[in-house]
Amino acid sequence: MKNTVKTFQAMKERGEKIAMLTCYDYSTAKLLEAAGINGVLVGDSLGNTMLGYEDTLSVTMEDMIIFGSAVARGCRDIMVVIDMPFMSYQVSDEQALVNAGRLMKEGRAQAVKLEGGAAVCSQIGAITAAGIPVMAHLGLTPQSVNAFGGNRVQGKGEAAAKQLLDDALAIQEAGVFSVVLECVPAKLASLITEKLSIPTIGIGAGAGCDGQILVYQDMLGMFMDYVPKFVRHFGKVGEAMVGAFKAYDQAVKAGDFPNENEAFKLASEDDLNRLY
Ligand code: KIV
Ligand code: NA
Repeated sequence: MKNTVKTFQAMKERGEKIAMLTCYDYSTAKLLEAAGINGVLVGDSLGNTMLGYEDTLSVTMEDMIIFGSAVARGCRDIMVVIDMPFMSYQVSDEQALVNAGRLMKEGRAQAVKLEGGAAVCSQIGAITAAGIPVMAHLGLTPQSVNAFGGNRVQGKGEAAAKQLLDDALAIQEAGVFSVVLECVPAKLASLITEKLSIPTIGIGAGAGCDGQILVYQDMLGMFMDYVPKFVRHFGKVGEAMVGAFKAYDQAVKAGDFPNENEAFKLASEDDLNRLY
């Protein structure tokens, strides 16, 4: 079944959980499709996971289109959401709409995601007015890492919690179809989830959200430099990959790879005789 903004909304109303993961390439998209995941986010976290930057600030529109379109080509039933990179929507409604349009047209997304609350409601209005579904992102919004002074849990005190709830209500009013809540206390995420009619997707936000998302390299155990508290390893794929790389290295060095069946034959064994 094709996942859409409508099926996401229906899942919230039925109390059915929504499973999302990040994705950045065609091959992985096909595997996520085979697993029946509801939605993928081509996150600007690709700046970290795919490009090796320390934060997401350097990620460009071109990066998002290259990775995003690759993912879209591998998805059929999965809903594809592409992140709007830093400075592609903050400056003006017009720029936000032009760039959201590019992610739809060139990236072939079904929706775009941007970070922020009341501050980006005007952009949300402009984008949704063009028929482009928008997902919001509140709490720890990595594009604001410099304003936060690091990546830390948001909404811990009463004033911060109220601010987050107000932002959530504001972006819902502005027209988003869903919102990611990243690194917020579980009870606050539950409260926001109850107060909103649109689905919340949590990451480090407890079990009370309508859905969950993780960075796929994190949940596969492929990225071990730093493991956040909220990550669970659902596989030992990193270990499996290192094992396979080692086996290949040994087979090549031992002359065991490739074997006869893994190579091509001449039309006739005589063909090379004259060349010797
Ligand atoms: O870029 C990203 O991967 C994200 C998710 C963590 C929500 O924004
Ligand atoms: Na992101």
